[in-house]
Amino acid sequence: MDQRHQSHHRPQHPNSNHHDNHQSTFKRDMDDSGRGHFQHKRFRPGHQNHHQAGPSTPPSSPPTQSLSVQRQLYERDFPLYKQPVEVGNFSLDSERRFFNDARQLRYYMEPEKSCPNFDLRDGYRGRFVKRDDRVKEKLDHILRWILANRSKLQSKDTAASSSPCALGVDIVTWRGHLTKLLTTPYETREGWLLAVTRMGGTLYISEVETEAARRDRENRTERHEEMMYWGYKFEQYTCADDARSLPDPGGVVNTNEAFCTVVQTRLAEHRLLFSGEVDCRDKDPKAPSPPACYIEMKTSLEISTPKQRSNFHRFKLLKWWAQSFLPGVPRIVAGFRDHDGVVVSVETYHISKISQLIKNETNCWKPTVCMNFCCEFLSFVKSVVTEDNPRVVHLFSWDPHRDVTYSIHRDSQYSFLPDWYVREMTSSTSRETHHHHPPQT
Ligand code: A3P
Ligand code: MG
Repeated sequence: MDQRHQSHHRPQHPNSNHHDNHQSTFKRDMDDSGRGHFQHKRFRPGHQNHHQAGPSTPPSSPPTQSLSVQRQLYERDFPLYKQPVEVGNFSLDSERRFFNDARQLRYYMEPEKSCPNFDLRDGYRGRFVKRDDRVKEKLDHILRWILANRSKLQSKDTAASSSPCALGVDIVTWRGHLTKLLTTPYETREGWLLAVTRMGGTLYISEVETEAARRDRENRTERHEEMMYWGYKFEQYTCADDARSLPDPGGVVNTNEAFCTVVQTRLAEHRLLFSGEVDCRDKDPKAPSPPACYIEMKTSLEISTPKQRSNFHRFKLLKWWAQSFLPGVPRIVAGFRDHDGVVVSVETYHISKISQLIKNETNCWKPTVCMNFCCEFLSFVKSVVTEDNPRVVHLFSWDPHRDVTYSIHRDSQYSFLPDWYVREMTSSTSRETHHHHPPQT
C-alpha cells in the first residue's frame, strides 16, 4: 500500500542520508557554557514524568534533566505519524538567493540503460561550484518562507483549532535535523548539538556544528572532497530542468542551487512544520501531487559481498529511509558506483518496502525505535523549554553512548532567531490580538 492511502505511517511500511545543506550554526566559543544544567534526573520514555515539567510544575518536582537513548526503551507500537502535506516550497539559486517558488525543481529522466556508465568524476576540476559550508544559514530560509506564507498557515490553523499558538505548529526545523534524531538510537560515531528557542508558543530547532564536525570539515582529504561531488554529479546525469528537456551532463554542478519542500505533519501530539531539499520529481504531469511525486537520488558503492550487503542494510538504508520517510517522499533512485566513481547499476527503492527488505538482517534498526525516540525527544524539549523568549536558547547535546543533556544560554552566541523575524512575528501577533479584541466604539 502506498503511504498516501494511510492516515498515518505504520512500521510495516516505513522506509533516507541526513544532510540537508543548511543544517548547522557554527559557534566555537563556549564562554557561557558554565551556566549549563546537567543531568540529575532522567527523562523516562513512556512514563508520566515528561508532562510534569511544564510551567505549572511545583518547585518540588524539578524538570528532568536528561533523556536516555537506549533502543529497548523505544521498542513499542509505531507512533501516529500523519501523512505529510506539502504546504509550500522555495528555491535557492546559484548565489543562494531565496525565491518563494519552485524554479529550482528538476525532473527525473530514467537512464536508458540499466548499466549507464556515468562517470561521476567528470567536471570536478572545471565545472563545479561548491557551496561555502563555513556559512551557517541556520533556519533563515525557512523563516523567510514562513513570513512570506503566514496567512496560509494561520488561516489553516484557525479552521482546524483555536490554538493560542501564533503559527499553529509546535515545532519548526529542517528535515535534516529530524533525520539525525531518528537515527540517534543507532548512531555510534557522530554526536549532535541542537539549539532550541520558544517563541509565540512554537519551538524552533536549529543545529549547531559540533567541534568534532568542524574538525572533520576542516580536515577532509582531497579524495573525500571529490567523493562529496559524486552525489551531485549523479543528480546532473539523471535530472532535467523541465519535463520535456534532457539532463545536461556538460553543464556546471553548483551546490548552492536547491529546491526545498515545506511540509506539515503530526508525530503523536507534536505538530511539525519542516523543510527539506528535494532532488527531483516524476516528470509525468499525471503523477500524484507533492510530496508523493518526489524522488530522492543517492549513490553508493556497488555491493559485491554478503558483508557489504549487510552493512548497506544496517547503516546506509537507515539514513536513506529516515530522510525520505519524514517528508513522505516515496522513492529513492540509487546509483551504484565502483571505486573510480563510475555508476554500474541503478536501482529504485520504495520507502514503504525498506522495512521488509531489512527484516532478515541481524542486529538491524527498527523504524518504530527511530520514531518513538524522536517523539520522546520532542516531548522532552517541550517540557524543558518553557520560557517564551527569542533571546533564550536551550542547547541540547548528545554524544554516542551518552544521554541527551542540555544547557541554557541567554543573549549568547547561540541565539539564532534573527531580529527581522522576531520583529515581524511579534508585531503581527499583536495585530492578530487586535483582531480578536476590536476596540470598543
Ligand atoms: P549521495 O546522496 O549520493 O550520497 P542528498 O542525497 O541528501 O540529496 O545529498 C546529495 C549529495 O551531497 C550526496 O550524494 C553527497 O555527495 C553529498 N553529501 C550528502 N551528505 C553529505 C555529508 N554528510 N558529507 C559530505 N557530503 C554529503
Ligand atoms: Mg540525494
